[in-house]
Amino acid sequence: MMVTSAMRDIRWTPRSAPGADDPSLANDTDRFAGQHVLSMRQYDRSDLEQLYTATDTLFSEEYDASDKPLEGKILLSAFFEKSTRTRLSHETAMLRLGGSVSGFADAQVTRAAGLAQEAHEDIYRMLSFYGDVLVTRHPDTGAPGKAAHVASIPVINAGDGLGEHPTQAMTDLYTLRQEFGRIDDLRILFTEDLRMRCIRSLLIGLQHYNCEIHCLPAAGKGLDPTLVQELRAHGRLVIEHSDLIRALPAVDVVYTSPTLRDDVPRQPPTDTPSQPSSVTITRDVLEQHAGAGLVVLNELPRRGELSSDVDETPFNRYWKQAANGLPVRMALLKLMFGK
Ligand code: CP
Repeated sequence: MMVTSAMRDIRWTPRSAPGADDPSLANDTDRFAGQHVLSMRQYDRSDLEQLYTATDTLFSEEYDASDKPLEGKILLSAFFEKSTRTRLSHETAMLRLGGSVSGFADAQVTRAAGLAQEAHEDIYRMLSFYGDVLVTRHPDTGAPGKAAHVASIPVINAGDGLGEHPTQAMTDLYTLRQEFGRIDDLRILFTEDLRMRCIRSLLIGLQHYNCEIHCLPAAGKGLDPTLVQELRAHGRLVIEHSDLIRALPAVDVVYTSPTLRDDVPRQPPTDTPSQPSSVTITRDVLEQHAGAGLVVLNELPRRGELSSDVDETPFNRYWKQAANGLPVRMALLKLMFGK
């Protein structure tokens, strides 16, 4: 659906959180204009290519930064959980496109806290009266889907519990494409904590590409077995490792994923293979065992899984990845507003 009038005049049909089994999604011809962004399951390969192409234009010499296509539009942030990159890059994206921002980065300043304990769904409904697009992060899995039910404007999932973080995955995929000129045929090693929502969203996106998925989780922090089954059903090779030194020469990319939540259950021990208690990527180990063109990504913030001595090496692409969060979200907002 193309947006032809002011966003605030459009009445959105409330919709449940989308998934592969949601037939309404399969019928959408434009997966961006006027749509919620709740899950990477909403997008196929051509949708993602549409987003990358839109992002590419922001890097082109012809791009006119003084163009303000979203002038008059308001982005509302509703962050019930902490964020550095995701909230600020969405807000900056809107400002760079000529729009305005409002909202909260801490629910303690709203009626959700204190005596009223206002229902979060009521807050989402209120916010949708005040702006044109809503970006939300919430500790509860599925909360953005509930927001989409009550909001009269499009909702962007900026991370929900153990669910997804679709705009991070879009950024990660764009960074891979920018770096290698393709996503197909890449061999990507995921290390440390593979239970996090960034990993889930990225792997859902990678199902559309002919990649090899290599995994080296810390003990009890492996991939959701259902996701592994899904990847294999899409024909993707999923290779489990227990030794970083042996895994590194076999891959093009290392995606190190920190533990960013302390409420995720650890998985029970499995027979094969035996996993290390933690996996740390350092300059030393990369210089000794990685191929020359290997690239290291991390959604950030890092914790112990990625040493700061990698920063000054040619392997580091995580600053570039973080920087790409801005143009990818600018392109996403433009497409959502039919621009
Ligand atoms: N990558 C990411 O989601 O960072 P923030 O938690 O700082 O938003």
